[in-house]
Amino acid sequence: MQSKVSALSSLVSVREGPGVDVMVAEDLWKVYRLGEIDYTALRGVSFRVRKGEYIAIVGPSGSGKSTLLNIMGALDRPTKGKMMIDGVEISSLNDKKLAELRNRKLGFVFQTFNLLSYMSAAENVETPLVAAGVPPDERRRRAYALLEMVGLKGFERNRPTMLSGGQQQRVAIARALANNPQIILADEPTGNLDSKSSHEIIEILRRLNDENGVTIVMVTHNLELTSHCNKVWHFRDGRIEKEETINEV
Ligand SMILES: Nc1ncnc2c1ncn2[C@@H]1O[C@H](COP(=O)(O)OP(=O)(O)OP(=O)(O)O)[C@@H](O)[C@H]1O
Ligand SMILES: [Mg+2]
Repeated sequence: MQSKVSALSSLVSVREGPGVDVMVAEDLWKVYRLGEIDYTALRGVSFRVRKGEYIAIVGPSGSGKSTLLNIMGALDRPTKGKMMIDGVEISSLNDKKLAELRNRKLGFVFQTFNLLSYMSAAENVETPLVAAGVPPDERRRRAYALLEMVGLKGFERNRPTMLSGGQQQRVAIARALANNPQIILADEPTGNLDSKSSHEIIEILRRLNDENGVTIVMVTHNLELTSHCNKVWHFRDGRIEKEETINEV
């Protein structure tokens, strides 16, 4: 694995100056309206994520982890409270500005990979670069380099159905890195993978954090996968019940 995943730093720029808050939440609430009934999924969540931190979120099913990650990723807005990403309060932005913020600063990795099945691995990695207006040659070059970085040299033209689950997730990570984001948000990135592939994905995330200073927030059910994290947020009933420090930054 170590040898397959190479040259991270030349592709993903190293962020200087750890310690700055990149995400700040103040008293986040999320209420889902289901017909006549309100369901409160977040009940006053506050936190700070510093640049270069690696945070894991663990907790029972239905406790609000994905709801929180979606708000942290500006995919959704809180019902009440403030969510600041790199100093910008997301409620103050319209949908277009939110999309720009997501595209510039954030990379997403999901449990189900979310690759486009009719596109090759390289084309999938290129999609955020198309949105950012990067010229075709440069797009292709960067996609190939990112795929090599996650150990997929030679698989650039494969469609997702011609790749294993672990390989598909590596394509998804390469895609998340396409625009050189400052923050990666991963919702159960190993949820559909066997233990060997899970450890390979975790190793890629660890190196992105450790060697490239990418801030990572990862939801996981597997406490075994949190040993490289700085902090673990134990989630319960829509709140951070406990923040555990594993490794100081
Ligand atoms: N779009 C929605 N509309 C209504 N209710 C929702 C919606 N999304 C989530 N919920 C509810 O909010 C609660 C929290 O859901 P969420 O998906 O955040 O949990 P989770 O901690 O990620 O769970 P899991 O570990 O199973 O992924 C659940 O009770 C869920 O049913
Ligand atoms: Mg979830």
